[in-house]
Amino acid sequence: MASVSLQTVVPPLESDKLSILDSAVAGYDREQLLWSSGYLAGIATLQASERQAAAQPAAMAAASVWSIFYATETGNSRRVAAALAERSRESGLTVELYDIRDYRPKALAKLDNALFVIATHGIGEAPNGSELFFEYWFAKKAPRLENLNYSILALGDSSYADFCEIGKRFDNRLQELGAKAVADRVDCDLDFDSFAAAWSEQVVGYAAAQTDTVIPNSTPYLRPVNQVVAITREQPFKAEILTKQRITGHGSTKDVRHIELSLEGSGLSYLPGDSLGVVPQNPPELAEALLDLLKLDGAEEVVVDGKSIALSDALTRRKEITGLNRPFLEAVASDHGKLQEIVEDRDKLTELFKTWQLIDIVARYPRAWQAQAFVDSLRKLTPRLYSIASSLDANPEEAHLTVGVVCYTQFGRPHWGAASSYLIGGAEEVPIYIEPNHHFRLPVDGDTPIIMIGAGTGVAPYRAFVEHRKEHGHKGDNWLIFGDRNLSSDFLYQLEWLRYRKEGLLNRIDAAFSRDQSQKVYVQTRITQQAKQIYAWLERGAHIYVCGDAERMAVDVNQALHAVLQSAGGLNDEGAAQYLSEMKAARRYQRDVY
Ligand SMILES: Cc1cc2nc3c(=O)[nH]c(=O)nc-3n(C[C@H](O)[C@H](O)[C@H](O)COP(=O)(O)OP(=O)(O)OC[C@H]3O[C@@H](n4cnc5c(N)ncnc54)[C@H](O)[C@@H]3O)c2cc1C
Ligand SMILES: Cc1cc2nc3c(=O)[nH]c(=O)nc-3n(C[C@H](O)[C@H](O)[C@H](O)COP(=O)(O)O)c2cc1C
Repeated sequence: MASVSLQTVVPPLESDKLSILDSAVAGYDREQLLWSSGYLAGIATLQASERQAAAQPAAMAAASVWSIFYATETGNSRRVAAALAERSRESGLTVELYDIRDYRPKALAKLDNALFVIATHGIGEAPNGSELFFEYWFAKKAPRLENLNYSILALGDSSYADFCEIGKRFDNRLQELGAKAVADRVDCDLDFDSFAAAWSEQVVGYAAAQTDTVIPNSTPYLRPVNQVVAITREQPFKAEILTKQRITGHGSTKDVRHIELSLEGSGLSYLPGDSLGVVPQNPPELAEALLDLLKLDGAEEVVVDGKSIALSDALTRRKEITGLNRPFLEAVASDHGKLQEIVEDRDKLTELFKTWQLIDIVARYPRAWQAQAFVDSLRKLTPRLYSIASSLDANPEEAHLTVGVVCYTQFGRPHWGAASSYLIGGAEEVPIYIEPNHHFRLPVDGDTPIIMIGAGTGVAPYRAFVEHRKEHGHKGDNWLIFGDRNLSSDFLYQLEWLRYRKEGLLNRIDAAFSRDQSQKVYVQTRITQQAKQIYAWLERGAHIYVCGDAERMAVDVNQALHAVLQSAGGLNDEGAAQYLSEMKAARRYQRDVY
């Protein structure tokens, strides 16, 4: 099979070896093929390093240090980088692992070897907190990096027009500055595991070949799993759902749920600011509707991750069927000129990703899919994160969430979100794990004032913050600026906030309900209106938090804060930008946006 599409390239294998390879990988899905390519690259590098070690056993230089950097917001890059560090150490390499946020940008100029795992967030932007590092290196006056050997694994989501933008820009910039890429950058979609594994093998192989290290003669991904049973994204804990209460009123256009999960027996703990990952299942009704449209039988066997399972199982438990992915769209577009036009137009494509689901494409742009090809064209079903809305100290062995339910009708069909519908559906337990967020934390000093800005479900972590401060008797002032659509139906946790206000725990509360009057009012409007007070709080050392919508709210709030520093603080444009940058560097301006 592989040779059919690769026949234009002259293979370095004789035809009998090529056909053995073809039959060995027959039936592999895309992910397995990618993994296998990394595995073979690892063997090639191992052989090279063994040859090198044999040729110069004593004369080789001492092992050089490799610095591994990650730029993350939701933890994926950290996990990949940590696994890479572990793998490198097992291979006898000397490595150091850094969160880019904690690294002095200039210090990179002193390094010889660096590996980067870089996520893109916002709209083609650097992850929160890492902006200063990238600003330094993107600046015109950045120093040359001629001594640096590097490689980049870029993490992203192909449904964004600026796919893996920061990884790509940083790669270009390092080349401009004279650094040498020792392995090509790899751009990963949300199903990054196999790409990350293949890249890691390649770079470890390269690094080992530069030293007198020999990679252990075992396949890293066939190692026995760790004996300690930790609760992770890969091995989640089944948490009982205790409550899934609707907290938006009847007249609301939105269904927001307060969800309480039991952590009993898990040993899990978390801090205010952390998120909780939910490993979802797709709505069975949606899988059935897809099967109907595709005219495929759910009982048909397909291969996923090397195992044969029923197609209906693949669609409910293994593959993303709510969102779209770029390779799938491109495959369909090759048969449909109209869709091809959309795929080639950046704005239209962005809009399509936001508003269309897989089923809309399958219905509107029919194609004769074979079961296996359809499954192979879809991404692996990935967990969703939710900001934890409770303090563990106030609610032992529980985690609370504030979940906006994705459920709407479009083109005459019901549409659902995978995780939100799973949480509020019939399941009594859901697989979960904790995703720490070290960059959305209450001040260490409980006397420090805080300003919490959030819209909609963005209020969730503030419930945790205030519960925590109450539980620990922290005396710092608390100011909540909350926004949503209507006061009567969308004031999430209204009674709790009003009680805290009465108790004096919440010193100020400013709410903005955009649809209660003809003129739209948002949280940023309140910030502008309260400019003097905001500035006074900032000058008292207040920490600012922003949570909720990344695309509009977080951008507008940033602009409003910038304007406050000019109007109330008397700073010019540059001074205001500098003030905010310094706040970020001092971790006094933190964001948890999505
Ligand atoms: C760090 C972090 C914290 C988060 N915290 C929270 C939180 O506290 N509360 C919370 O509710 N969410 C939170 N989220 C978002 C959450 O992770 C999910 O993305 C969200 O719940 C949707 O997931 P889903 O599986 O239900 O929908 P998905 O299965 O991901 O479906 C979403 C798809 O549906 C379509 N779609 C969705 N809405 C619409 C619409 N209105 N119109 C048209 N099409 C639409 C789009 O195609 C979209 O791709 C957070 C995200 C991050 C990264
Ligand atoms: C709010 C938000 C914005 C994002 N913006 C982009 C983007 O512009 N381009 C892109 O390729 N990926 C984007 N992504 C996808 C992330 O890069 C992807 O989820 C990645 O795996 C996250 O890695 P991390 O967990 O290390 O932060 C975005 C994700 C979120 C939650």
